[in-house]
Amino acid sequence: MADLSTKIGPLEVKNPIVTGAGPLAGTVEHIKACADAGFGVVITKTTSTPWHLQRYPRPLYTLLDYKKNPQKPYEVPDNFTWIHREHNSVFSPYKFVKIVEQSAKYVKEKGARLVGSFSARGPEWDEIAELYAEAGCDALELNFCCPFPPEGLSQDPEYAKIGIYYTNNPLEGAMICERIKKKIGIPIFAKVSPDGSNFAELAKAYERAGADGVTMFANNKIMRVDIETGKPVNYGPAPGTGPWAKSLVLRWISEVAAKTNFGVMGGRGAAAWEDAIEFIMAGADGVQYCTPVMLRGLGYVNEILGGMASFMDRKGYKTISDFADKALNQIYNNKDLVDKVKPLYAEVDLKKCVGCGRCKKVCWYDVIEMHRKAIFKNERCAGCSLCSQVCPANAITMHERDNDVDHFKALASAHPELLPDDEIFLK
Ligand SMILES: Cc1cc2nc3c(=O)[nH]c(=O)nc-3n(C[C@H](O)[C@H](O)[C@H](O)COP(=O)(O)O)c2cc1C
Repeated sequence: MADLSTKIGPLEVKNPIVTGAGPLAGTVEHIKACADAGFGVVITKTTSTPWHLQRYPRPLYTLLDYKKNPQKPYEVPDNFTWIHREHNSVFSPYKFVKIVEQSAKYVKEKGARLVGSFSARGPEWDEIAELYAEAGCDALELNFCCPFPPEGLSQDPEYAKIGIYYTNNPLEGAMICERIKKKIGIPIFAKVSPDGSNFAELAKAYERAGADGVTMFANNKIMRVDIETGKPVNYGPAPGTGPWAKSLVLRWISEVAAKTNFGVMGGRGAAAWEDAIEFIMAGADGVQYCTPVMLRGLGYVNEILGGMASFMDRKGYKTISDFADKALNQIYNNKDLVDKVKPLYAEVDLKKCVGCGRCKKVCWYDVIEMHRKAIFKNERCAGCSLCSQVCPANAITMHERDNDVDHFKALASAHPELLPDDEIFLK
């Protein structure tokens, strides 16, 4: 039977499935329900200090691209776009700490971990960290990610030094990590926004400052337009997510995991149980789910855990570490590609070819001519393999070339006169 227990940074967890901070865990009842549902880690709704709470944007949730299957109208589609305008908790951290106190023991009894999420300013960071730690949090997630609440609500630039400000000013974020680590004995994770850049450098700065891990990512601002009315959906650019976001996140998870030695929590775009496996193989230690569980209900957590366990049994993986980082350790850079991967060319099986011309339409190297069937000029084939992937008759196979020169000549076949004069590439 698969063992899902693992570690996220120094935090020992019964499984790597984590609530993305948000409405899943904003009240005592919901935090306890998340623990009942089987989450390995419950991260609370982010709180921030009172001056952020004076005006509350409407927390509208809009679902786009939500294509219901008429045969299964109650099922959440595999892909969708979610745009929302939700603020941090309406309760200040100084009050929310009571919610932490009232749920910490229960979460522990269920074998889960409770992580407090907050964003603050100046010395309040330290104060709230201490309060949350005393109230029973097993770890903290510092919200360096949310675009709310200051935007548009105050003229005072100091007011904006909260949430995403620290994704964009990582050295200031690192100073906060350092200060908090000196004060409290529990792990801290910094959650960043994808609206930043160079996350590997940012994560290294947090690691040097003593943080125990990074969470990538919160939502970034996205925008869509209703072309019938000409209005921006949900009143303009706003935080958004969806299963489509996964590939961007995995890219950064792998880069950060390769360059740091601390915990990496992945989130945004994980929707199915398979996504958790993918995140972990790419380098994540824990995987956050927010909107997929909001849309399906807490019973979905069992499906994620069950799917992971069956997969592990099928593959003979006894523990998470049997497949963790598996993809991360096999990433090739361009030099590896040249050194280790043979160039390809396509070959068509004329007995299978139905003469539809689909391959010709996608071939941008002018390899294919249609004479009732597809005829390939292999000496022009760049080996991109698109034709073999779209062929409806599975008539095309890719073969390895035995030398780079033929590949290079194929790439240049439209303009051989433009090749370098010294022909160094062709030797
Ligand atoms: C309605 C809503 C409220 C959220 N509130 C918070 C929050 O308070 N703090 C935070 O760090 N992230 C917040 N998030 C971001 C989620 O924790 C998560 O990072 C994001 O939704 C991406 O994950 P997903 O694709 O699984 O939804 C919120 C997301 C949603 C949809």
